[in-house]
Amino acid sequence: MNAIDALPRRRFDCLVIGAGGGGLRAALQLAQADVHVAVVSKVFPTRSHTVAAQGGINAALGNVLPDDWHWHMYDTVKGGDYLGDQDAIEYMCRVAPGLVIELEHYGVPFTRLENGRIYQRMFGGQSQNFGGAQAARTCAAADRTGHAILHALYQQNLRAKTHFFDEFFAIDLLRDAAGNVFGALVLEIETGEPLVIEAKTTLLATGGAGRMYRTTTNALINTGDGLGMALRAGIPLQDMEFIQFHPTGIAGLGILITEGARGEGGYLVNNGGERFMERYAPQARDLASRDVVSRAIAVEVREGRGCGPNRDHVLLRLDHLGAELIKSRLPGIRENAMRFAHVDPIDRPIPVYPTAHYIMGGIPTNRFGQVVVPEHHGPEEPVPGLYAVGECACASIHGANRLGGNSILDIVVFGRAAADHILEYLADNPHARPFPPAAAEPALARLRRWDRTGEGESVDGLGEELRRAMEEYCGVFRTQEVLDQGVAKVVALRERLADARLTDHSRVFNTARIEALELENLMEIALATVVSAAARRESRGAHSRVDYPARDDIKWLKHSLFFREGRRLDYKPVRMKPLSVDSFPPQARVY
Ligand code: FUM
Repeated sequence: MNAIDALPRRRFDCLVIGAGGGGLRAALQLAQADVHVAVVSKVFPTRSHTVAAQGGINAALGNVLPDDWHWHMYDTVKGGDYLGDQDAIEYMCRVAPGLVIELEHYGVPFTRLENGRIYQRMFGGQSQNFGGAQAARTCAAADRTGHAILHALYQQNLRAKTHFFDEFFAIDLLRDAAGNVFGALVLEIETGEPLVIEAKTTLLATGGAGRMYRTTTNALINTGDGLGMALRAGIPLQDMEFIQFHPTGIAGLGILITEGARGEGGYLVNNGGERFMERYAPQARDLASRDVVSRAIAVEVREGRGCGPNRDHVLLRLDHLGAELIKSRLPGIRENAMRFAHVDPIDRPIPVYPTAHYIMGGIPTNRFGQVVVPEHHGPEEPVPGLYAVGECACASIHGANRLGGNSILDIVVFGRAAADHILEYLADNPHARPFPPAAAEPALARLRRWDRTGEGESVDGLGEELRRAMEEYCGVFRTQEVLDQGVAKVVALRERLADARLTDHSRVFNTARIEALELENLMEIALATVVSAAARRESRGAHSRVDYPARDDIKWLKHSLFFREGRRLDYKPVRMKPLSVDSFPPQARVY
């Protein structure tokens, strides 16, 4: 009997891996259409990282100031430094208002204006009339918007009878040599028992990988599991050099202080009390796009204008906003500032510094959420039945720098789009493909590898070294020399991990094996990131090269693709042509 035949097996029409907003929005659409859908989540679904999204979701509703989805599209293209695919961006901005109203109908308790409409706050990089006055486009539920959305989507899924595998860890895709995917091998965390989930279609919605950095807004669960699975399945990762550093993490800790705090009127000051963003972005000031604000903070600190005894951060002032506004619109960040920075922002400024927040790159997809790979340097082809949405995917709507408020939008827009496409796919392909036992072998081998015990390097120690290396060698500002050192460092760490063992002591906890599997994923993603960054010799969006300070559209207006095998890079064109409107050609990007 083959090893795989000894394992328990479940069969579904669609397997969704990840229970954040993207996975749950897709699952809901499928369950409502009577598709037999399973969601696998390594945490209880409402603990998925969408829960941590604070500021809001963008849609040109025009409830507070005039707005138009074309303006939203323009801001998104410009915010992404012209690397975003304009067909996908148009689609996202055009459908956004309808999807926010739909969330309202699902029960999301948005903050209200006096007239009963959804409250919208100002966020970075937003404008009226194609670069004019500041817009107010971010629909908010106080500063707990992700929490509100995730809970509403989960409740709707319970009602629609989506099947949940809570606290199951996905090890690898089941796939054959031709690239067909048959579901995944998963592990029940509590018991450590593997389970085969066969599915006609598989959707990856596993979120980001912020845990490859030491200081990050990301939860412990954000270890890029879907990205690792894709790489091991031979699928390249796109645009991985573009890592967003959120300007306002609590200094030293990285805990998110929402951009909504600046949207409500907060501003940054240096050690002279100067409102320094006026020098870097005269028009948008503190509401310039995130890459601009993060670089400005890093420069202030580097040039000795930082605050505190070590001059290693700047201050975010909210004290002029008044207690009532802070308590009603920013209650969560007040709580976090008091708990983690020991300051009450009603009276005292919050110490902040840029912190790893979001990966603009990911698994290459089209605007239907289908995973697409280049065929031997030829045109892209969808992988039949394989989909990806949310932060683990690269559609690419965020280009080289995401605008705040567009990530929650991304997950609901493309969660729904992928589900719609899955419904079509299932109608055309009603029967499961025969599942060859060999399809499970790579996943089983990965699992067996962590059965080895004995003396060896500790997984924890290697994780710590990785997080420090990424911070040191692949941060806000980059140079060739530092990035090349980073590649060598991550390659060496990855090799050391291959020889690491779980010690008898660590095996006392049944999560030790999961942490090792997670670190393997993080190592793969860190390598993709640093190799892609070392190769891109220009500055664009969040990728800021001190040695190549200008954007170079002639050589570099193209997406990178990192392949695990041979650590190879390839490139593909940016889709500049929108669906129905004129394109936004690259221009100088000033705020
Ligand atoms: O600042 C924030 O509230 C984060 C929002 C986002 O990343 O979209």
